[in-house]
Amino acid sequence: MGLHLWMIMKMMVILSKVIFLLRVSDATPNASFDENYKIIWGNQHVQLLNQGREVQLSLDKSSGAGFGSKLYFGSGSFQMKIKLPAKDSGGIVTAFYLFLNTTVHEEMDFEFLGNRPGKPVILQTNVFTNGLGGREQKFSLWFDPGANFHYYKLLWNDHQVVFFVDDTPIRVYKNNIIRGVGYPTHTLQVITSFWDGSSWATDGGKTKVNYSNAPFHANFQDFNIDGCISMPNSPNKDCASQKYWWNNKKYWQLNPQQLKSLEDVRKKYMKYDYCTDKSRYPTPRPECSEK
Ligand SMILES: *[C@@H]1O[C@H](CO)[C@@H](O)[C@H](O)[C@H]1NC(C)=O
Ligand SMILES: *[C@@H]1O[C@H](CO)[C@@H](O)[C@H](O)[C@H]1NC(C)=O
Ligand SMILES: *[C@@H]1O[C@H](CO)[C@@H](O)[C@H](O)[C@H]1NC(C)=O
Repeated sequence: MGLHLWMIMKMMVILSKVIFLLRVSDATPNASFDENYKIIWGNQHVQLLNQGREVQLSLDKSSGAGFGSKLYFGSGSFQMKIKLPAKDSGGIVTAFYLFLNTTVHEEMDFEFLGNRPGKPVILQTNVFTNGLGGREQKFSLWFDPGANFHYYKLLWNDHQVVFFVDDTPIRVYKNNIIRGVGYPTHTLQVITSFWDGSSWATDGGKTKVNYSNAPFHANFQDFNIDGCISMPNSPNKDCASQKYWWNNKKYWQLNPQQLKSLEDVRKKYMKYDYCTDKSRYPTPRPECSEK
């Protein structure tokens, strides 16, 4: 009888310790993959690591893979911590983007175009509004994106879309609806994908994926999403509300220090800008004439 009671008490002590530990790990700031995301293709090529705090996508001859947010959003700040394939990534595309594919195609994307060892990975960005894309800007990076994790972020409010690499803004797409320029206004899903872009991605398709180095891996961390939840078929009208931090006036434009970083990046790292491609657009797109 006494022994029985002692064992129950002992169990309770152990249980309370377990509960305490669970609470402590609850306090980690980063969401796990399952909280916000689901696999959308290539199930066999997705591996959850570190209790779902990291995901590894693989590419081999049979498939790549991708995942997407469970929910859809009408504004927000969307980030992903990404480590690209180390060494040979020629022909491989790793992408992180906001996307709607219904009757209207809207998209804001980061696409990393892989390369052979020693050659720079190119970060291509693009914006699609109401089905209209063709707004590519390409950059090299000031670090090796296959060596470590870095943050890639999209801030999207009623005034601007800002593309960040870590905390450095590399591109701003302003809301110029008033001048007849398209702006993303639909309800979008957050997507990542990892796939064979041999037909176009590297040197215009001349550099193909070298499968003797397969499988290739891209790793992802930090599955938090700061977004205004919405529905594709019934958009949430509250997504421009000041109750969301990213809609605050200080995010309507870059601050002077950010503007300076943006100019520096454009000067040093920009490889292509659709706004200055005269052979493609003899008359520049209207959004190009505004700073
Ligand atoms: C996620 O965790 C990392 C540390 O691994 C931390 O630097 C980062 O701020 C966290 N992100 C958020 C949104 O809390
Ligand atoms: C968009 O949707 C159409 C029709 O459902 C589909 O055929 C197409 O593959 C989709 N495109 C992308 C990029 O998901
Ligand atoms: C593909 O990779 C293998 C193994 O690293 C290498 O021997 C071969 O030269 C590579 N082929 C090309 C086209 O780069």
